[in-house]
Amino acid sequence: MHVVVLAAGKGTRMRSRLPKVLQPLGGEPLIAHVLRRARGLDPRAVTVVVGHEAERVRQATNADDLRFVEQVEQKGTGHAVSLALAGEDPSDLVLVLYGDVPLIPEADLAACLDGEARLVVLGAEIPDPTGYGRLIEQPPGHLERIVEERDADVATRRIRRINTGILCAAAGDLQRWLAAGESEAAHRQGEWYLTDVVAAARAEGLPVALVLSSWPEAVLGVNDRVQLAQQERQYQRARAESCLRDGLMLADPARFDLRGDLAFGQDCLIDVNVILEGSVRLGDGVRIGPGCRLRDVTVGDDAVIDAYSLLESCEIGPNCHVGPFARLRPGALLQAGARVGNFVEMKNATLGPDAKANHLTYLGDATVGARANIGAGTITCNYDGANKHQTRIGADVFIGSNSALVAPVVVGDHATIGAGTVLTRDAPPGKLTLTRSPQETRTDWERPRKTSRPTMD
Ligand code: UD1
Ligand code: CA
Repeated sequence: MHVVVLAAGKGTRMRSRLPKVLQPLGGEPLIAHVLRRARGLDPRAVTVVVGHEAERVRQATNADDLRFVEQVEQKGTGHAVSLALAGEDPSDLVLVLYGDVPLIPEADLAACLDGEARLVVLGAEIPDPTGYGRLIEQPPGHLERIVEERDADVATRRIRRINTGILCAAAGDLQRWLAAGESEAAHRQGEWYLTDVVAAARAEGLPVALVLSSWPEAVLGVNDRVQLAQQERQYQRARAESCLRDGLMLADPARFDLRGDLAFGQDCLIDVNVILEGSVRLGDGVRIGPGCRLRDVTVGDDAVIDAYSLLESCEIGPNCHVGPFARLRPGALLQAGARVGNFVEMKNATLGPDAKANHLTYLGDATVGARANIGAGTITCNYDGANKHQTRIGADVFIGSNSALVAPVVVGDHATIGAGTVLTRDAPPGKLTLTRSPQETRTDWERPRKTSRPTMD
């Protein structure tokens, strides 16, 4: 089988600088969803027809298993398919998918490919068919032709069965039917419609089968941002339901967004308005509070990510506690039982087992040993304006509040750093190190008094 994916159009109605097929749905370009479905069928070849911003689309989708055909002028879907089929073995089965129809139920594709007819078209029955090609059936169940909205009269516009754009037939048949459509288009001086293959097949007396989609609201094209937002919700609802069925507890499936891959163990609980992106893996019993965003994160068993925390490219060990209001940037690693509290930022830094940084701290380019306690307001000064430097804090260290650790610097095991220290040299293990200006009290000092202001009268 040969899959042809149409992706040459501009998508004017999106009013965007981004080509339509690259608009994101569930965090991935529309066309990535289509290509995933295509690959799932294990086809002999996948051809992507590109045109508008061809290079950009090609780069965004590039893979060894794809063949690209350029449609320099977008003369219509019929023209696009005929370009893709040039030189094709006539007996090959061809499946046409549209780059702007991202959500295709697998069952629908299976039903189309099962069809006996020479041409199988995937249709959908929907409450509001505005904008889509309408299916004319004669007799019912047998497609006679497809009429585009712009060519439809009032009665035809009332038909609620629409063309999804997905169809399959032998390459030779398609080429012949398309050729008939080309002269038709020339006549009309308009677009060369792929949909005209239906009438062409019927003109040859061949049966055309109609498969109705098992998920009609999903298999709709995305032409503008209203439809894109609708499809996003469909997609998210489906993903949330599949997570629930697999044992993930979502406080509200309507307030959960998954923009990538998620793996989870048993008894994980996700509160409302959580966004998961990239690749997220959760162990058993993980709890994520409301308003968190995790991108490319691994979380160990029974860890808690508390409300409004942002985590990216980091790893959280078992039994850790993060947040509320924590920001863990790339390279943050929390080993078992470590805790990071509110307004703590970490980047390229490791907190050892059971170490704590509970309040208002920045740990960048740092390692913190087991059970160390990082006091509120501690800052690793990792950047000198030109280069980044490392801070190494040993096991069982206690760093007093509001300390600045000027890297590169090492704090030995069991050391204590007094509050307010600006540490510029290494602190030896087991000792108290501090920098502090002496405290003084001035007995001769009086608090200034407010001078009385002259009044108007
Ligand atoms: C098309 C169908 C319509 C169907 C609807 C379903 C035709 C004539 N009409 O209409 O019956 O109900 O999809 O979503 O096919 N493209 C190219 N080259 C071109 C023109 C388009 O590659 O010259 C690509 C576009 O990038 C897009 C797809 O084909 O991915 C569909 O084109 P679009 O212009 O969106 O067609 P619709 O008006 O939605
Ligand atoms: Ca479309």
